[in-house]
Formats: sequence, structure tokens, C-alpha cells
Amino acid sequence: MCGIVGYVGKKTALPILMTGLKRLEYRGYDSAGVALVSQFGCQVVKAVGKIAQLDKELGDHAYEQTVGIAHTRWATHGVPSVLNAHPHTDQAGEIALVHNGIIENYQSIREALERQGRKFRTETDTEALTYLIAEYYEGDLTEAVRKALSQVEGTYGIAVVSSKDPDIIVAARNGSPLIIGDGGDEFFVASDVSAVLNHTKRVVFLDDEEIVTITRKGYQITTIDQATITPHVEEISWSLGQIEKGGYDHFMLKEIHEQTATLCDAIRGRLNFEEGKPRLNGLNLQVDQLRTIDRIIICACGTSWHSGLIGEYVIEELARVPVEVEYASEFRYRSPIIPENSVFIAISQSGETADTMAALREAQHAGAITLGIVNVVGSSIARVTDGGVYTHSGPEIGVASTKAFTSQVMALNLIAILLGRMRNLSVQQGLELINYLEAIPGQVGKMLQQDETIKEIAGEYYQNNNFLYLGRGVNFPVALEGALKLKEISYIHAEGYPAAEMKHGPIALIDEMMPVVVIALKDPVYDKVISSIQQVKARSGRVIAIATEGDTEIASMVDHVIYVPKTHRLFTPVLSIIPLQLLAYHIAALRGCEIDQPRNLAKSVTVE
Ligand code: G6P
Repeated sequence: MCGIVGYVGKKTALPILMTGLKRLEYRGYDSAGVALVSQFGCQVVKAVGKIAQLDKELGDHAYEQTVGIAHTRWATHGVPSVLNAHPHTDQAGEIALVHNGIIENYQSIREALERQGRKFRTETDTEALTYLIAEYYEGDLTEAVRKALSQVEGTYGIAVVSSKDPDIIVAARNGSPLIIGDGGDEFFVASDVSAVLNHTKRVVFLDDEEIVTITRKGYQITTIDQATITPHVEEISWSLGQIEKGGYDHFMLKEIHEQTATLCDAIRGRLNFEEGKPRLNGLNLQVDQLRTIDRIIICACGTSWHSGLIGEYVIEELARVPVEVEYASEFRYRSPIIPENSVFIAISQSGETADTMAALREAQHAGAITLGIVNVVGSSIARVTDGGVYTHSGPEIGVASTKAFTSQVMALNLIAILLGRMRNLSVQQGLELINYLEAIPGQVGKMLQQDETIKEIAGEYYQNNNFLYLGRGVNFPVALEGALKLKEISYIHAEGYPAAEMKHGPIALIDEMMPVVVIALKDPVYDKVISSIQQVKARSGRVIAIATEGDTEIASMVDHVIYVPKTHRLFTPVLSIIPLQLLAYHIAALRGCEIDQPRNLAKSVTVE
């Protein structure tokens, strides 16, 4: 979604801002712009489309300013256009502002200013805030921002510059992430660490309702209520290499192939073989709290919701604790019942998804213990929850989530075994389970070797316009996730279904033009899944089966088989999803799609 980057230092700001914007491209956007500031004014250049378009618009002109802000916009209020793109300026063109989030009461602010004769040029909520800051400006930009923000309802991450105060950036956050990059004698503001990582690894995460004034000498953080905040500088462990393609054609393919390593990272130091149980100190829960949990509520969106569904099967079976999994956007608006001794788990790669954050607040309000399964260290969800498990998958740049998903599932497996051991599982049973988990990264490596075979299968099907994905039990959510991957990046219509439900509707769609991907692993429902396959074949459907290594009989019934190594039945999703990720990738590549930044999608959805 929208991205912000700002620079204050001694170097020419423009190239730094442009590189920062490129690093933010992965979040998804439809227009971009920069504002460069000096005592002579704010120079604003904007363009619709990709950063390359903005580059073109900037032309060969020498921009020498050493302070500036830049933005990638993902339209919410008003169509993607040069006018609606950020930065926005006040009527005099002296103040420029970039904004992530939504100003909910912008209409009333706008109407009040219009009554005073101000003329607005756009339909955006952001322009109203820019004008309001200008209204309050009396020689101190920070104070003007503070006064304006005290009138604002909604969410924001903003960065503001003014030609009357040309050596500073004022930034603030409420519900939309913002970090300060501390480069010693140059400073940055950004919505995401990847925008500043090639300059500094020292960052400060701003908290809600904090305002920072950044100069060439340093930065000062205060709250909206004027309390002074002592900054806590954190060292980012991500390397620049992790946010580059490293020889792969797309970030998504690189991230799929990283899963052997990321799954190792997800379990590293967390398997206690002596006690046959995972070590999850970050949960911040006492043994008696773990034992008395009566109910688990999992909320998430998109791919993270699918990992939650897998978690439901694994936790209920291993720990016998009832689990409810809900879309975060639904949970928050339906007066949910959150009984005592409930634990609420928010799952989020970015840790910033607005709906998940809102559901989490709802659960906190009701008094639940809240945990996060989060990838981005220091993100809002990670900081607001009582405890949790970091997935340690490193930066995920491809919009379609892959490595973050498998690590989320791994984290849920760990939680399930831990809860099981607190209740009904013996040391021996726990040990067997964690031995299975330990073997999974190597097995994923084996699955990835089938990349070429999967590419060949993709070659046979990439022109089809509909796909059906079937699975049962713990592999039903894998079918959902496989279908989601395909539709996200190839724009092919795909649906995931529990295999047995096919006969209640989707079977009507089956013909030779409808490829059906079936996860048919050797488990207690194998025979039932085989009978679904036969129903598809009887109607001339074409089947790609994901089967257990050694299952030779299935090959004669289907068109293609991709084999998955043996593991514990409940842990198969981490393996069975790998071919589905690769299939979606290769189909999208053959169709010539923009894989890392699919149309209309955003990596981190920070609006409702
Ligand atoms: C967006 C992304 C999805 C992601 C979902 C939830 O829609 O495009 O890939 O699964 O948000 O994101 P989160 O960061 O909360 O996991």
C-alpha cells in the first residue's frame, strides 16, 4: 500500500528518495511523487503509474535540494491521477505533505476551511490536512502539525516539509507505521525499513500519536500532548541482499526458494529435545496460563487467514483446545463473544494490516490475552500484543505471500505441540512431533528440486481460465491458499473447496477445460479423496494430484502427480503448498503477468 520516504542531510535528496521509492514498490501503488524543499519553495513532481514514469517526469533537471519527501500512493479517495497523487501542497505551495492512512473527518475540516475561502483542488482527504497545517503555521512547523493533528480523526503516517522551515521534516504516526533512520549525520523517515536499509540499519519505530522533528543534527520525538519521548534505537538484522532479487527473475520465486532456510529460522532454538516440547519464550505466558486456556480465537486476513485455518486443525487435534478462526474484518463488527481464559492470536506477515489490528484491539478491549504471529519485527501488531512468535522469514517483497505463510504454519505447529504438552501429550509424543518438524526444512528443499517438472505442467495449463483446488482436513486450507496464489498473480479464476463438497456444486463446472488440483495424501481420508478424483475424471476433468511419495497407484488415475515426502499427517501443509506456489508462479510467468506487484493488490493493507 502507500509508501513514504523522506531525507534530511547534506547529500542531494532526490536520488536517495528515488531509490527509497523503488524499495517500496513492492507494497503496491498506482502513482508516485516527490517534494524537494529549499528556502526558495517546494518543488513537487508527480506521475501516475510506475516510478519509471516519475523518473521521466523529473527529466534531466538538476535538483540540488538536500531535504525532501516522497510517496507511492494506492488510491483510496479519488482515482489514481497526478492531481490526487502525493505530495499535496497548501494553497500557497509552501507546505508539502505525504500521507498514508485515512483522515476520517476530512470532509468537515474541508468544509470549515472552504467557508474561510480556501479553494481545494483534489478530492483527497490528505489535501484537507495539508491546508489545516498551513492554517496553524505561525513560524513553527512542528507546532502547526501538532495543532492540526489534534483536530484529526483517523489513521496517519505523515511527513511534512515547508519552504519557510526548509531544513526539517516533521513526521507523525497514528495507526500507520513510520520509522526514523539514523545515519549519524543524515536522517531518514520511512514507512518501512527497506526504504532506508542501504543507508542505515539503525532505526527508531515511532509509536502512535508521536511527532518527530528531524534536522541535519538529529531528531526530537514528542507526543501530540507535548510529552518528550526518549528514542529507542534498534539495529535491523535484515541485510540489503535480502531485499534484492539475487539472480531470480522475481522476488516471489526467490522467496519460494528461500523456504528451506526460512523454515530453519522459524524453528531455530525453539525445539527442546530433552523435554520433547517447543521453547517459545516470546509468548510471555506462565505454565498455568498455558494449561488453563479454554478457547483460542485466531484472526487474520488473506494468506495469513489460511495459515490460521491450518492452525485450527493442528491445535484442536494435538492440544484439544477449541479454536475459532475468523476473518479479522468480520470479527470486529459482530459483537464477538470472548469468554474468560480465551487467547486471541493475530496472524500477520506485515504486522500492520488494519483489519487485523482492529480485531486485536477489540479482543484487548474484551480482556483477552493477545498473541501475535508476526514476521516484521517492531511492527504495530508485534508491539501491541501481550506476546507472540516471530516467524523470522526475513523481508517478504512479493505481494503474494509464500515464505511467510509456511513459517506462520510452522509457528502454529510449535504452539500446538507446546499446548499439547501442557495438557495431554507425553514427552515421547512431543519428541516425535518435534522430530518431524526438524526434518521439514530439508524435505522442503527436496520439493523445490521439482521446480522444472512443475514448470512443464504449468506449460500445459497456463491458457486455462478456471481452476479448481480440492483438499481435505488440514489440506483443505492448502487448497484455498493454492487457489488464492493462482488468482492473485495470474488473474485466473480459481476456487478452493473441501474435496467432498465438490459434489454439492462445483462438479457442475467440470469438463476438459477445468483443471483440478487435488491434494491427495496418504491419510485417513485418502480413499474419499480418490473417489472425488474419480468423479472429476468421469466428467473429462484433468487432474493434477499432489500425492505422498511412494503412492504409485494414483499415477494411473490422474494426468500429473507431484510427490510430497512423508511427514506427520498434521504437518503436511508446509510441504503440499510448495508445488502449488510454484505452479501459480510458472503459470503467471507464462502468461506474462507482473508477478511481484499484481494489479490492484497491496502487500500491506493499512486501510479498512
Ligand atoms: C494483503 C496481501 C496478502 C496478505 C494479506 C494479509 O492482502 O496482498 O498477501 O495475505 O494482506 O497481510 P498480513 O501482512 O496481515 O499477513
